[in-house]
Amino acid sequence: MGFPQPAFYIFKCEQSSPPGMPKPSCVNEQTRELYQYMSNKLMSMGVTTTVLPIRTSCLGRCQMGPVMLVEPGHYMYIGLTKEKIDRIIDEHILNGIPVEEFLIPKEFWDEPINPKDAMEQMA
Ligand code: FES
Repeated sequence: MGFPQPAFYIFKCEQSSPPGMPKPSCVNEQTRELYQYMSNKLMSMGVTTTVLPIRTSCLGRCQMGPVMLVEPGHYMYIGLTKEKIDRIIDEHILNGIPVEEFLIPKEFWDEPINPKDAMEQMA
């Protein structure tokens, strides 16, 4: 048996805007602990060999932050809190059932555009 690939990647947006910027960002005074909270929880459960938490910059849905993307499957969770993270880990990561009520609404997360189609639209 080879070296196993991860079962999940959890991309947590860690973008913070400088003071005075009108654009919202996922990390501010109230939300700066969320990545560490998630990471510590996964570590205490002993699953970080197969569930990888990853800090990212902006994931393009700043108005709905704090956000995180669970792969595989393109599951974008919005408005995160510690309580939501607990449920996402318990229900989605451990039991394979995405927490629908915390997912981004479909109108803000519609089907992806094929890159070749995107190139043709630009031409
Ligand atoms: S700042 Fe987090 S999605 Fe843009």
